[in-house]
Amino acid sequence: MRLDKFLVACGVGSRTEVKKILKAGQVSVNQVVEKSAKRHINEEQDEVAYQGQVLTYEKFVYYLLNKPKGVISATEDSKHRTVLDLLDETARQKEVFPVGRLDIDTHGLLLLTNNGALAHEMLSPKKHVEKLYQAEVAGIMTQEDVSCFAQGIELKDFTCQPADLDILATDEKEQTSRVQIRIAEGKFHQVKRMVAACGKQVTDLQRLSMGPLVLDTALALGAYRRLNARELELLAIFGVEL
Ligand code: URA
Repeated sequence: MRLDKFLVACGVGSRTEVKKILKAGQVSVNQVVEKSAKRHINEEQDEVAYQGQVLTYEKFVYYLLNKPKGVISATEDSKHRTVLDLLDETARQKEVFPVGRLDIDTHGLLLLTNNGALAHEMLSPKKHVEKLYQAEVAGIMTQEDVSCFAQGIELKDFTCQPADLDILATDEKEQTSRVQIRIAEGKFHQVKRMVAACGKQVTDLQRLSMGPLVLDTALALGAYRRLNARELELLAIFGVEL
């Protein structure tokens, strides 16, 4: 791997910053100062240091994003900004991608990683990874709807697995409801379609959790952070290299 790419991947700085850092003689490879960005290194064997601190190469990175509305859960799009536009250069350099999709107008928890095996496990229909959503609904959701969710709502093209509908609040005057919905599938527009099948409409949708990962309320919309050690431990249940 090129030295400048390695330094960006280790979070030393952007590509431009890294060039300056190299020129300033702040980087060494195997204890010898190296100024060339083009130098190739073996990230598993060579000892690269920045300002005397040895850098460790991370193969996989994990970001917890509080996705705002208006951005697409994809790595590129011709019309809209994508979730990658919200992340730093290190993340993009590491080629992270979103684990699953949220609609453009859905906000909340989104995991981004470059760990394909983990993404595969978390998205596999066989794994039944639970997702918890909170929705604002136009219309009054009822105990009858709770039963329909529990039985498995029939949509045009498939029957949903039994799901939990928890009615948090209803406002008779405004004719609105606030609900939480837990599903273990991830079909296109699933939550909105389930609510629509009950004759009501989702007006706002937020994802609160996915498997063992929970939305960090300290993250503003559009903000993100690396997963912490505890969260990484929780991902061990998926049985892949992390
Ligand atoms: N269900 C939906 O309808 N939309 C989402 O973004 C996620 C789940």
